[in-house]
Amino acid sequence: MAPANQPARRAVRGTVTPSRIAPRVSRVTRRPVSPIALIPRPQHLDELDEPPFVLGETSTVVVEPRPELIQTGVLTADLFGRLSGRAIEVRYAGAEPAPGAIVLTRTGPVADGGPGADETYQVVVRAGRVEVRSPSVAGLVHGVVTLRQLATVEEGSVRIPAVRIQDAPRFAWRGLSIDVARHFFGVEDLKGVIGLMAHYKLNVLHLHLTDDQGWRLHVPSRPKLTELSSDSAVGGDRGGFYTPGDFAALTEYAAARGIRVVPEIDVPGHVNAALHAYGELTPSGEPTDAYDGIEVGFSRLHADLPATQPFLEAVFTDVAAMTAGEHVHIGGDEVLTMEPEEYARFVALASQVVRAAGKKVVGWQEIAQTPLEPGTVVQYWDTRVDPEPFVRAAREGALLLMSPGSKSYLDMKYDPTFPLGLEWAGHIEVRDSYDWEPTTLVEGVPAESVVGVEAAVWTETLRTVDDLTTMLLPRLAAVAEVAWTPPQARDWADFRTRVAQHGRFWDHLGVAWHRSPQVDWTTRP
Ligand code: ACM
Repeated sequence: MAPANQPARRAVRGTVTPSRIAPRVSRVTRRPVSPIALIPRPQHLDELDEPPFVLGETSTVVVEPRPELIQTGVLTADLFGRLSGRAIEVRYAGAEPAPGAIVLTRTGPVADGGPGADETYQVVVRAGRVEVRSPSVAGLVHGVVTLRQLATVEEGSVRIPAVRIQDAPRFAWRGLSIDVARHFFGVEDLKGVIGLMAHYKLNVLHLHLTDDQGWRLHVPSRPKLTELSSDSAVGGDRGGFYTPGDFAALTEYAAARGIRVVPEIDVPGHVNAALHAYGELTPSGEPTDAYDGIEVGFSRLHADLPATQPFLEAVFTDVAAMTAGEHVHIGGDEVLTMEPEEYARFVALASQVVRAAGKKVVGWQEIAQTPLEPGTVVQYWDTRVDPEPFVRAAREGALLLMSPGSKSYLDMKYDPTFPLGLEWAGHIEVRDSYDWEPTTLVEGVPAESVVGVEAAVWTETLRTVDDLTTMLLPRLAAVAEVAWTPPQARDWADFRTRVAQHGRFWDHLGVAWHRSPQVDWTTRP
């Protein structure tokens, strides 16, 4: 039960830039396919018995003149403009829109608002007009990406089949965690991933910003973290870091697509980058050497050193100030050389600092072995452990975020021969990442305590954006459907035929992906 007794996670252990999301599609002629291949599968979809909507010369995007809606309108016009190869104007709502309008309307709040209720959206596509309605920007974005998934292009003509869709997410937290510490991925790379996340209606980008190999976010009150510990990465590869300006730009880019950013500063383990920058955090007072291997569990902070508490206060206060969303992640995983009592004090201290800075706490599952405040989010990852601490934590008001290594760790190899990835949690083919149920994963935890689902991609072996997207696609689409669609509406055979059509979209974006043999892809290799 002690953190010291946790099994070690790892014995050893790509993306699109906006310029790569270039308008290539209008030059591509595709085989005709059934247009209804939405992922995640929506709650209600009726095909209407009328001709499709055809994006024409007079097509416009219509929004109310409010800043956040104008932004959504511009994104929509940009998306369909690039698809058709023709600029599309954004107009303000008011006058009767010309035929061929895509009208985005923000509605009032949903009355019986359960989790994710503000992300409810409605799409009605008729021959002459498209309507997207939602109480939130995120919901409007869900409606727009739904249109994008429905759209087909034949010789420059963009068509959307006539449908009526009413939809809402099952879980309020649908995330992707990216390890930018083992290998660094810059802002443009992450923007590409954010685009993919939005396409599959994910809404949380969790960034694992610090680890033994590198520190990736500039912290103004502790500048040496990035001055001395950001150049490194696994295997001697190049590192990098985000300035506060970069982080703000990323946050804004994500927010416009309905996605919030959760920063993770991993303590008290996985901290060699911090110990390398600030020697006062080690018992000898000497900084450690930089580290570019892939072992885990060897580095730790010390609760009783005088520099430790000021360090935690400075770092978490600065990070909270840069965070637009409600949550900051304190890590807490794989602290293999700390007694339970010191670990519990440490988690309590880090949590208290985060709360004092006005944020809610997220931590990896090991924190469930310590007393937690209600509302703390415990991120479950290692399925090999005793469920008892999670049951108790849930009973005391903690929420569980489900990231089971054997299903949703998308850095696991697809099969034993796959050139990228690790395999300590097994091999994960598309079906493995699809066929699981978050609320029955941990025996005894009530379904209401499950706040959501998060995929994770650790980057020990992933050096490039192509490596990254090869591991994400197609499995990210599978996990996204687990997070959005209730179990009674999920079916592997059905998902398999839908995802088969998504390869065309990934090809259109120019992203690398894995042609899983479990799927009959509709594109040629
Ligand atoms: C983890 O995989 N160590 C959270």
